[in-house]
Amino acid sequence: MKPQHWVIVAAFLLAACGTIAKPISEIEVSNMLPSPVTATPVVSGDPVKGAELFSTFQPVAGIACSTCHRVDSEERLVGPGLLHISTRAGQRIAGESAPDYVRMSILEPSTYVVEDYPDVMPKNWGKVFSEDELNDLIAYMMTL
Ligand code: HEC
Repeated sequence: MKPQHWVIVAAFLLAACGTIAKPISEIEVSNMLPSPVTATPVVSGDPVKGAELFSTFQPVAGIACSTCHRVDSEERLVGPGLLHISTRAGQRIAGESAPDYVRMSILEPSTYVVEDYPDVMPKNWGKVFSEDELNDLIAYMMTL
């Protein structure tokens, strides 16, 4: 082989090593990420009870969740449709898991107001629901 050909062969080998080396370094990087990023969120509530709470009129708040939210689509009612909220919730705030975001959306709705929506969610759900009921609601949201 002429010397120029060796250069071409060497370039090929380097390119090949580059493509092999890339996935390995990606695996190493993902191993270094803190575990909460990949951990499956643990939700202790009962989604069936949560569904019932969602559509039940709550006298203390004067309204039901279902008056403002659909669960069968992402379309607007008063608030955003909650279909696929289990996925969207985890992407709203960096580092906040889906169940944590949903909990915050219910207890402190003004902390994160969804773009193009008014800040009209009742602010007293913490007085309406017990901790168990709140977990049931969150578990239900995670099924949507
Ligand atoms: C008076 C109407 C109203 C009621 C009742 C209401 N919401 Fe909302 N909700 C909204 C609106 C409007 C938004 C969007 C603005 C915001 O982020 O606060 C919203 C946002 C949300 C979000 C965040 C959605 C997203 O895409 O990030 C969740 C989750 C949610 N509501 C759950 C509930 C649950 C559970 C209840 C019952 C406990 C409830 N809402 C009751 C109006 C309401």
